[in-house]
Amino acid sequence: MKIKAFLIILISSSILLTLSAASYSIMGDIVLDRYFKGGGKLPPPKFPHWFHRIRFKCKVCHPAIFKMKKGENDITMDKIMKGEFCGKCHDGTIAWQVNFDACPRCHSTREADTKTIKEFPKDNMGNIDWVSALVSGQISPKDTLDPKAKTGTPFRLNLLYKGKNMPDATFPHYAHTLWLDCNNCHIDIFLMKAGQSKMTMEGIFSGGFCAVCHGKVAFPIDNCTRCHK
Ligand code: HEC
Ligand code: HEC
Ligand code: HEC
Ligand code: HEC
Ligand code: HEC
Ligand code: HEC
Repeated sequence: MKIKAFLIILISSSILLTLSAASYSIMGDIVLDRYFKGGGKLPPPKFPHWFHRIRFKCKVCHPAIFKMKKGENDITMDKIMKGEFCGKCHDGTIAWQVNFDACPRCHSTREADTKTIKEFPKDNMGNIDWVSALVSGQISPKDTLDPKAKTGTPFRLNLLYKGKNMPDATFPHYAHTLWLDCNNCHIDIFLMKAGQSKMTMEGIFSGGFCAVCHGKVAFPIDNCTRCHK
């Protein structure tokens, strides 16, 4: 049993080394390159999740403004200028306006500012611990752009997945519903019934289930012990 467990860890770690090195940046930066595949004068715009999630919860943007999948939103400058997508906020009221001076703020290859990043609490692997930052009140991202809308209360239901070769895996609804709405996960990613979504660790390693977010915007899958405690 011990040897089998060791092998699983070894195999999964090597898959992960290639997987996470290629796809995870601590900040969840997304390069939007639908219209920039062939290069061009401007670099493609880079959307920094970290900078926005300090100010807004995930549910402000997903799914109302952006589908939660890279390349699935057909964003053009025309639409932005008409107040869609980035233009919902970058209108001169909620955030700075899109004009000719602003092109390089989005169309940029600039890296995140490490000075700001140092101020955040870190998890066991050195990635930003966003849950602590939120719970401690260090950041207070908005729940909604509509001052009249009711905000959802976090949902306290912990689910446990019995481990065989690993400690049990936990899924805390609480930490997730601090950031997300029910419809970010139900029912596109998970059915609303424990054990019914046909979830496996292989499925997670290949980018499904938990890995729809973990390894892209939330902490990566190679942090086994943050889920398997
Ligand atoms: C200010 C708006 C905004 C906020 C807030 C936001 N996102 Fe996003 N998200 C985006 C944009 C823009 C994209 C890129 C969409 C595209 O490529 O068409 C994206 C893409 C994603 C993707 C797809 C990544 C991929 O590689 O396919 C995931 C997953 C995601 N976001 C999760 C989250 C989570 C989790 C949070 C909260 C912690 C969050 N987002 C907060 C705007 C936002
Ligand atoms: C929900 C509102 C919202 C949406 C949607 C949004 N932003 Fe922002 N964005 C902000 C706010 C607020 C700031 C901070 C403005 C300030 O400091 O004055 C900001 C700042 C930025 C910055 C500056 C980051 C830095 O390091 O200084 C960039 C770049 C940016 N946004 C790009 C984008 C792009 C690209 C999109 C669309 C894909 C987008 N934003 C969509 C609200 C939004
Ligand atoms: C708030 C962020 C932001 C700012 C500011 C911005 N862009 Fe964009 N731009 C985007 C996003 C997001 C896309 C979609 C990229 C994709 O999906 O390939 C885009 C796409 C484009 C495209 C290709 C699609 C199209 O509409 O033709 C061009 C060209 C472009 N931008 C030029 C500019 C110029 C010129 C400026 C300054 C006047 C500018 N952008 C300012 C975010 C921004
Ligand atoms: C984002 C959370 C998360 C992370 C990170 C994670 N897992 Fe899992 N893992 C799960 C969940 C949920 C299950 C239960 C899936 C199921 O029902 O089989 C699981 C199941 C497993 C199983 C099958 C059950 C068992 O104990 O034999 C193995 C093996 C496993 N994970 C190994 C790993 C390893 C190795 C890592 C780190 C490289 C890892 N996991 C990282 C969530 C995670
Ligand atoms: C980050 C993703 C995520 C979010 C957000 C989320 N859930 Fe879940 N939910 C899950 C997962 C994962 C399961 C278990 C699915 C499985 O095991 O097949 C689950 C299961 C459930 C179950 C079934 C529990 C049981 O014992 O059978 C209920 C009820 C539920 N969720 C309600 C909610 C509600 C209400 C919200 C919003 C307040 C919510 N969920 C938000 C991921 C999420
Ligand atoms: C829709 C996006 C999304 C999905 C799907 C998702 N998570 Fe998360 N998860 C997050 C975000 C956002 C956080 C906050 C921490 C971060 O961003 O690194 C988080 C945090 C966590 C934490 C840390 C809680 C804490 O108190 O620090 C655990 C454990 C976790 N997720 C497990 C899971 C497991 C297990 C699954 C799959 C069953 C899963 N997550 C699916 C977005 C997601």
